[in-house]
Amino acid sequence: MNILLIGSGGREHALAWSLAASPLCDRLFIAPGNPGTAQHGTNVALDVTDHPAVIAFCKDQTIDLVVVGPEAPLVAGLVDDLTAAGLKAFGPTRDAAQLEGSKAFTKDFCAEFGIPTAAYRRFTDAEAAKAYIRSYGVPIVVKADGLAAGKGVVVATSFEEAEAAVDMMIGGGFGEAGAEVVVEAFLEGEEASFFALCDGKTAIPLGTAQDHKRAYDGDEGPNTGGMGAYSPAAVLTPEIQQRVMRDIIGPTLAGMRTRGMPYTGILYAGLMLTQDGPQLIEYNARLGDPETQVLLPRLKSDLVTAFLAACDGVLDSITLKWDSKAALTVVMAAKGYPGTVEKGSEIRGIPAAEALEDVMVFHAGTRQDGDRLVSNGGRVLNVTALGATITEAQKRAYEAVSLIDWPEGFCRSDIGWREVERERG
Ligand code: AMP
Ligand code: GLY
Repeated sequence: MNILLIGSGGREHALAWSLAASPLCDRLFIAPGNPGTAQHGTNVALDVTDHPAVIAFCKDQTIDLVVVGPEAPLVAGLVDDLTAAGLKAFGPTRDAAQLEGSKAFTKDFCAEFGIPTAAYRRFTDAEAAKAYIRSYGVPIVVKADGLAAGKGVVVATSFEEAEAAVDMMIGGGFGEAGAEVVVEAFLEGEEASFFALCDGKTAIPLGTAQDHKRAYDGDEGPNTGGMGAYSPAAVLTPEIQQRVMRDIIGPTLAGMRTRGMPYTGILYAGLMLTQDGPQLIEYNARLGDPETQVLLPRLKSDLVTAFLAACDGVLDSITLKWDSKAALTVVMAAKGYPGTVEKGSEIRGIPAAEALEDVMVFHAGTRQDGDRLVSNGGRVLNVTALGATITEAQKRAYEAVSLIDWPEGFCRSDIGWREVERERG
């Protein structure tokens, strides 16, 4: 079959690698893709916001399956439009993608269906939000309702900080996304991510991970899209995972059916493991980046078969097999990230890094410039390694990083520290 993958990040390189490895895949196209995805298929310069153009391409190339990587096209209803045109697309509809696209939607949904999450209030009026914050106390969390590229959350430890966040968001700092804010209770605990593959009525676990959101060592510095990740997340014990499936994922699938918007695709639950058990921090309607770069290298089963089963509503017939090895990925970013970065610096040494056993280098913000590979964004490479333990995967990943010659880049030197400390005992 012919497959079109939408996206251009490290997540999409990992997806392209997995999809192309499937015996079911004849031809793989990636729109727009990156130099990494081009190793596994054909990159096409489609404007993915132009849905009629995507549909025309699919008909032209007899595409049998479209896989949507990022959230923006999901929230924009690409899956709805492809489906209406008679094409098979993997991912939630526009309505279902509200679980990521609107925090207010998700909070109300959790309240209605008894899904454990932080207590909250919604506000469109800044003064009302601030009065509530004063009466509630700090720490408290202020969130823009809509998509804000991962920057829409402020965990405030003072009234000044909380009020400034309210003013900035309702004042238009994130455009329409902040016209409404959610103010919620601060949850204490360790964070972990749980992924489920869903077909509208059945969900099956798709692995666990933990990421590092802060830019610098010791989890210091500004928030980023993610500087590294590892899988599995041992804190999500089999018992806790069962509880997540029973108390969070299961009721979500049932609730979305009740709402008339059955959820198909990936459900990525950001969890806080509190003393009262796992609580939902947020949902994403897609795979994580860089979490995908540690989930897929551990998946032994055929990804295309699994995605097709989700589209066709037959996930109850599927069991996924996983490598017993652990995976860890280190993000190499351009100096200055998550602020402004210079593009166009040359990167060498990827073949040497990939020559190491159980090492894969996934591209994100790279560009081919003649024979030179150059940087083309903030997060540029994901260096993934497998190992018997997280400690071993970490050692191998950093050995690979040391072989990459890119003076204009940087990475954290402590990805996986929490797990490495735990393994040390
Ligand atoms: P989100 O974009 O909703 O994942 O939030 C970004 C980050 O803010 C999360 O990864 C948490 O570290 C933190 N966060 C969000 N909500 C809460 C909460 N209710 N309590 C504590 N931390 C939170
Ligand atoms: N790494 C976090 C995310 O993909 O949302």
